[in-house]
Amino acid sequence: MNCRDLLLQLNQAHALSAAQYRFLLDARTAEDEAFAKTLAVRVRKQMYGDAVFVRGLIEISNFCKNDCYYCGIRRGNKEAERYRLTPEQIMECAAEGYRLGFRTFVLQGGEDPFYTDEVLCALIKELKARYPECAVTLSLGERSRESFAALKDAGADRYLLRHETADPAHYARLHPPEMSFENRIRCLRDLKEIGFQTGCGFMVGSPGQTPETLAADLAFIETFRPEMCGIGPFIPHRHTPLGREPAGSVGLTLFLLSVLRLMLPEVLLPATTALGTLDPEGREKGILAGANVVMPNLSPAAVRKKYELYDHKLCTGCEAAEGLAELKTRLGRIGCETATGRGDAPGWHRKNDEQNNRQREETNSHGNL
Ligand code: 5AD
Repeated sequence: MNCRDLLLQLNQAHALSAAQYRFLLDARTAEDEAFAKTLAVRVRKQMYGDAVFVRGLIEISNFCKNDCYYCGIRRGNKEAERYRLTPEQIMECAAEGYRLGFRTFVLQGGEDPFYTDEVLCALIKELKARYPECAVTLSLGERSRESFAALKDAGADRYLLRHETADPAHYARLHPPEMSFENRIRCLRDLKEIGFQTGCGFMVGSPGQTPETLAADLAFIETFRPEMCGIGPFIPHRHTPLGREPAGSVGLTLFLLSVLRLMLPEVLLPATTALGTLDPEGREKGILAGANVVMPNLSPAAVRKKYELYDHKLCTGCEAAEGLAELKTRLGRIGCETATGRGDAPGWHRKNDEQNNRQREETNSHGNL
């Protein structure tokens, strides 16, 4: 086995064994990383040309009922200054985002019981009524299948829920006992079955992560086939139990972005804020490793600092929606343009149409019985 051949095989077959992923992680050299980037950027261009999609991120609440050991907005962090946007404030953020040119709104927040299905469905309907050509993405944690279905019915298009790690023992090291890997995966399967464009993902370098757990992440993603995949380096937050652990590696994150692009050519892959936080050129480096999405912050300036998942989280400059002009310039320098439009994966509408047709045929054939 050598890494170069494995990367070529991944590029052709879009699949490797867990042992092969493991080998890639263990044995890669700087040349292999450069080769992976070249292949990944070629695939990104075949799928998306020079387009990089921008999403307007609205951080709707930092109240959270969970107590994840790595996260700055865990309920146990008494130092966190809590805030919650009202539906009216969220609509104002979206209006500003629309004016700036965003056509996807991502509503992200802690698991805040204030946001019942009723509140969220009303909000989603209002967003879709006012901006019918825009996509609505939710990133609001674990919910019941019924709740996910209600949100989909209300018009939401996409849902982001990182699996965090595909290894149950590692999952237990990052989360308190009341949270379970099984429920996380249940949520992801439900989201997919319900018809959301679904995103999973994980932190790179989270405490306890090993080449085996990372290989398990890659194998999981290969079979789960998400439409989106969010990965970024772990960054400690001082007021969390894992606050003294070292941050994840930018280089490994970039390599994994390339591997993901080869595995899932059409995947919507963000160059994350965490990557931009650890490296001033992280965003560009992410795109040049195969990423094709950036998610600038549309939250009201007054609350941005409070959505602090990890120390020194960026929320200004290119991470801010008002920085869109600067972002465009910087992406232009690396040969990319920010795309307007919803930015679905090319295969999504095809797949969705096929699914709808199948359902229609099934209904018809039942009707004929
Ligand atoms: N460092 C990096 N990423 C983090 N997240 C939460 N806390 C941290 C941290 N300390 C990520 C998790 C979560 C997403 C919203 O942010 O993967 O799913």
